[in-house]
Amino acid sequence: MGSSIVTLPEFLQSARHAGYQSLAHAIAELVDNAIQAEASTIAVRVGHGASGPEIDVQDDGVGMDDSTLARALCFGGSSRYGDRSGMGRFGMGLPSSSLSQARCVEVYSWRATNRVRLVRFDLDELLAGSQELEPPRSVDLPPAATAPGPRGTVVRWTRCDQLAGQRPGSLARDLSRSLGRTFRRFIWGGLALTVNGAACPPLDPLLLDPRAPASGAVRFGAQLRLPVRTALGEGTVAAVFSELPVQLWHGLSLAEKRRVGITKGGGVSVMRAEREVDVGWFFMGEKRRESYDDWWRCEISFPPTLDEAFGLTYTKQQIRPTSELIEALTPYVSAVAHALNGRVRRAHQTLQVRERFSASEVRATSVESRLRPLPAPTSTTSALAARVAARWPDVLVPPASPDVRIIEDDLGPAPVFELLQVKNRLLVIWNTAHPFYQRAYAPLAASSEPGSAQRRAHLELLVVALAREEAARGAGPPGVEEFRHAWSETLAELIKD
Ligand SMILES: Nc1ncnc2c1ncn2[C@@H]1O[C@H](COP(=O)(O)OP(=O)(O)OP(=O)(O)O)[C@@H](O)[C@H]1O
Ligand SMILES: [Mg+2]
Repeated sequence: MGSSIVTLPEFLQSARHAGYQSLAHAIAELVDNAIQAEASTIAVRVGHGASGPEIDVQDDGVGMDDSTLARALCFGGSSRYGDRSGMGRFGMGLPSSSLSQARCVEVYSWRATNRVRLVRFDLDELLAGSQELEPPRSVDLPPAATAPGPRGTVVRWTRCDQLAGQRPGSLARDLSRSLGRTFRRFIWGGLALTVNGAACPPLDPLLLDPRAPASGAVRFGAQLRLPVRTALGEGTVAAVFSELPVQLWHGLSLAEKRRVGITKGGGVSVMRAEREVDVGWFFMGEKRRESYDDWWRCEISFPPTLDEAFGLTYTKQQIRPTSELIEALTPYVSAVAHALNGRVRRAHQTLQVRERFSASEVRATSVESRLRPLPAPTSTTSALAARVAARWPDVLVPPASPDVRIIEDDLGPAPVFELLQVKNRLLVIWNTAHPFYQRAYAPLAASSEPGSAQRRAHLELLVVALAREEAARGAGPPGVEEFRHAWSETLAELIKD
C-alpha cells in the first residue's frame, strides 16, 4: 500500500516556517493578491483581539467566485498557477503568509454585497482531526469591514500567535513604512493603500520621485536596459541610478539624514513585477560597500520570466541570483557603481576643501571694501578657466558683491598659485603639486595641533595678498606673471629635497 505524500499535521506545522522576514513581508502577499484582483483601495487594519493583535486586509477588487474561493486557502490553489505576467504564480502566498502569522485565517469575498461568502482555515481544528477545508458559505461581513463596495475581499487573521506581545500601534507604524516602500509604484499609479486609515507613504529609496516623502536626488545617466538570456529564462533587466546632492545634504544632522533616508537607505532595490522583492548589495563584483555608497542609489527591475535566474523563492522577499546572471549583470552595474562612488568621493573632498578655506575667504572678502578696487578682468577664456568651469561650475557664478574664493587643484609644474578674475570675484587656485603646498601648507592643513589652523590661514592670506596685488596691476605692467613663475620655481628649488 502506498502512503500519502503529505502528512497533514506535520506539514501544516512546518509550513508555518516559510521564513517571512516580518509581518510586512507576509502582508505583502495579501496586497499582491488584491492588486492582481484590480483593487484600487486596500485597507490594512491592525487591531486588538482577545489573544493579541488581529489583522485584516480589505480590498475592492473583483472578488472571488465560489470555485476560486474554495481553492484560495489550499496550498497550490492558484487561479494563475505558473503565470508570468504579474506577481502571483505559486499558489502559496495566501495560505503560507497567513499561517506564518496566525492560527486562524478567514477569507470573505463578495461579488454582490448581499452575498458575502466565507472560507476559513483554522489550524487547531485541522490539527484536531477535520482534515478538510469546508466549502464556501454565506455570512455577514466581519464587523470591522468598512464601506464595502459592490465587490471585494477581506482576509482576516486572528490568533496571531507569532505577534503575541507586540503592540498594534507599533506594528501598524512599521507596516505603513514597509508597505509604502514595497508598493511605491502602485501608490504612484493611484492605489490607495492604508494602514489603520492612514495612507502609506510611498518611500522612494532612489530619492527621485517628488511624490515620495523625501526626494531631491538626481538621476544618473539613462536607464540601462539589459536583455538577459540564461539557461533558466530570459527577459529584460532595467537599472536606474540616482545621485544624492552631497553639497546640499552633507551638513544635515544625523537624525535628519536618517529621516530623509540617506543613512541606511543605500543598496540596490530589486523590483519584480513592479514591487520591491529585496534590497542588498547585488551585482557589485569585487566592490566592497563603503559609507560613500549611501550617497547614490540603484534600482534593478526584472520580469517574472527571470524568477529562476534571480533565484526568487515563493515568499517573494529575497533573491539569490545564479552565477550566470551575476556574470551577465555585474560588468554593467559595478561599472556605474564605481563611477558614482568616485563622484561622491570627489564631492565630499571638494566640500572638505571648501570648509578648510572658508575662514580665509570670509576674512579676505570682508577687507575687500577697504582695499583699492580691482580693475575689471581682461578675459577668462584661458585653458585654466575652462578647467575650473568643468570641475567647479558654481565657482564661476559671479557674486553680487566683490569676493575672494580659494580652491585647490593639481596644476602640475606651475607656480604656487594661479588666479582668475570672474567679474567681481577673485579666484585663487593653490597648486597642490607645488612643493610649497606639499611641504609647508599640507602638513598644517592636516594638523589638529593648537594654532595650526591660524598658521595655515596666514599662509592662505599671504597667497591671497600676492594674487590680489597681481590682479590690481591689471593687464600691465608686463612681467608680473613671469615674476610669479620665476619665484615659484626658485622656491621649489629651495625647499624640495
Ligand atoms: N484579494 C483577492 N481577490 C481576488 N482573488 C484572490 C484574492 N486573494 C487571493 N485570490 C485568489 O486566490 C488564489 C490563491 O492566492 P495565493 O496568493 O495563494 O496564490 P497566487 O497569488 O495565485 O500565487 P502566489 O503564491 O505566487 O501568490 C489566487 O490565485 C486568486 O485567484
Ligand atoms: Mg498571491
